[in-house]
Amino acid sequence: MKLSQRALGIHPSPTLAIDAKAKQMIQEGMDVIGFGAGEPDFDTPEGITQEAINSLRRGETKYTPASGTLQLKEAVCYKMERDHGLKYNPNEVVICCGAKHALYNLFQVICDPGDEVIIPAPYWVSYSEQVVLAGAKPVFIQTTEAAGFRMTAAQFEAAITPRTVALVLNSPSNPTGAVYSKAELEAIAKVAVTHKILVISDEIYEQLIYENTHHSIAALNPEIKAQTIIINGVAKTFAMTGWRIGYAVGDAKIIKAIGDLQSHSTSNPVTFCQSPSALALRQPPVNEINQMVQEFKKRRDYMVNVINQIPGISCRKPEGAFYVFANISGLIGKDLAGKIINNGDDFAEVLLEKANVAVVPGTGFGAPGYIRLSYATSMEKIEKGLERIKRFVESELK
Ligand SMILES: Cc1ncc(COP(=O)(O)O)c(C=O)c1O
Repeated sequence: MKLSQRALGIHPSPTLAIDAKAKQMIQEGMDVIGFGAGEPDFDTPEGITQEAINSLRRGETKYTPASGTLQLKEAVCYKMERDHGLKYNPNEVVICCGAKHALYNLFQVICDPGDEVIIPAPYWVSYSEQVVLAGAKPVFIQTTEAAGFRMTAAQFEAAITPRTVALVLNSPSNPTGAVYSKAELEAIAKVAVTHKILVISDEIYEQLIYENTHHSIAALNPEIKAQTIIINGVAKTFAMTGWRIGYAVGDAKIIKAIGDLQSHSTSNPVTFCQSPSALALRQPPVNEINQMVQEFKKRRDYMVNVINQIPGISCRKPEGAFYVFANISGLIGKDLAGKIINNGDDFAEVLLEKANVAVVPGTGFGAPGYIRLSYATSMEKIEKGLERIKRFVESELK
């Protein structure tokens, strides 16, 4: 059977691939510690779950408008004003089946063949794949660890061509945890406005922040607001990854196009997930969120400390999200258990096979000399997993 060129061009998500291999090893009875998770290991707060049950009991089991309920769009507007002082109307909001889906739809409605989308690297794996699926070309800007994995306005400006349609900003970042300062965002906004480039601001990790403050680029001034689409969702902040509710906010014409596209693909996001999401946005379970953030911070500090004690590996302290992005350049060229390490892929493979620890190689994030470790897993597993990596590397380097 024939597959389309489009399908043949897809690179399956490396995060999911390593996860699948680790799960298979666990199923085979092996004791594997996984650092691949991209979701909080906390339960959805009870009040939100209860509201989903109430919604079902109210019989909210039919279709809603394809672009989401007015109630949830109004809750998104309320959240934007409360958190960022940004005023939007419901016709500037579309509810999608997760933030990933909002991004997918967005690239579909703004990109034509040959268009370019600027993506600072390291980047979340799906941006580049989605840009390619929309027929456009991802243009990567290499950031450095020394610069905190943050792109400068000058780098951004240098990458703009007549075909550039958008810039993807992700702060706090997956995989690096980097958080842009207000001054850095101001400089980037100035370039975007001068060159009329749409800014796609993926703010999904905005609440998971341990240092610095989150600033939405759209809140800086009316000019950049008009040129920004904010992407967000309930998945990470409220431990609601499986509920599949995300949203895009901004220019009414783009938002309408996403709704129209959605009306021919998924139709509405799950009906009874919408009113609990509205509740979460209007009345965030502050205690639960604070507890989760404190726990993530504790784990992050522990991980950064231990990783920097492992020979050949180092990492900076990520300011947000729940990942440590570790530099393994000190292991390049080394023989570990009979395998010469050329990049993060080799190291991830040997770690899984010889130390029973699953980490995600940096190649899919545009950073082959790195590995990503999620700390959305228990402290006990983190301690055990890091101890295994340390022991393995130390014994192999002897
Ligand atoms: C940077 C980034 N954006 C978007 C998403 C997607 O979130 P959702 O679960 O709402 O689709 C993720 C999930 O891993 C992410 O890391």
